[in-house]
Amino acid sequence: MSSPINKLVFNWYLYMNTNLVLEFQRSSAADTRAPAYLRLRHLLRQRVESGAMGPGHALPSERELAAQLELSRVTVRKAISGLVDDGVLIQRRGAGTFVAERIVKPLSKMTSFTEDLRARGLNPRSVFLGREVGEVTPEEAMALNLSPGSLVVRLHRLRYAGDEPLAEERSAIPQAILKDPASVKDSLYEALDALGCRPVRALQRLRAVDLSAAQARQLKVPAGSAALAVERRSFLADGRLVEFTSSWYRGDAYDFVAELHGE
Ligand code: GLP
Repeated sequence: MSSPINKLVFNWYLYMNTNLVLEFQRSSAADTRAPAYLRLRHLLRQRVESGAMGPGHALPSERELAAQLELSRVTVRKAISGLVDDGVLIQRRGAGTFVAERIVKPLSKMTSFTEDLRARGLNPRSVFLGREVGEVTPEEAMALNLSPGSLVVRLHRLRYAGDEPLAEERSAIPQAILKDPASVKDSLYEALDALGCRPVRALQRLRAVDLSAAQARQLKVPAGSAALAVERRSFLADGRLVEFTSSWYRGDAYDFVAELHGE
């Protein structure tokens, strides 16, 4: 603890945790009905989303947190395990609990790119390479269950976290559902939500691929780098298909995590 850097790190750690204790006390006073583990989970999630706890930030141990917040260790464990399941926190055996650095995407949750990044305190952005209305291609017609000649809105986007490109995405949406391509600003799901047409279910296919030279250039990785190619076909509650999206996620930035159940 003698070097100035160590002292600085220690003071910062103390400061962050003092804030956590104060905020937890405040949240407890404001909402006495929600169980303590949910309040703590909410608070930790908020701190990650706001960037107060950035990627790689180490959380105090379960024992320390329990003592500081005057909670049982079971309660603290329950709060943390939910965030681990959601990919917000990761646990390394023997080392502790950290804010996830790679973007860990739970496969069972139908979240949007924007939501995944915000949940990690990152700043999602889209750069449009194309935004148009056109007649369905045979592939889009099959994927979206549309008849030949129907119109679709096509979006071709580079998806960023701040200045860092993470994925390339091509989406087709029936124009009968999304009239105006310009209504999509950064997030497709926000635009669909505003129309009361957010998808509730999706079929998704994942493949490992090598990026083409052009894709690698756009995503600022070496030519031939690995990517996860994801195809998503999403449905509205009434069964209509609402999107057919092909995404190429940088292999070095994303982890896809799925929980599996026996039977
Ligand atoms: C993910 C999915 C896409 C979906 C997108 C919506 O990237 N793979 O299928 O279209 O999220 O994200 P947003 O609302 O940020 O545009």
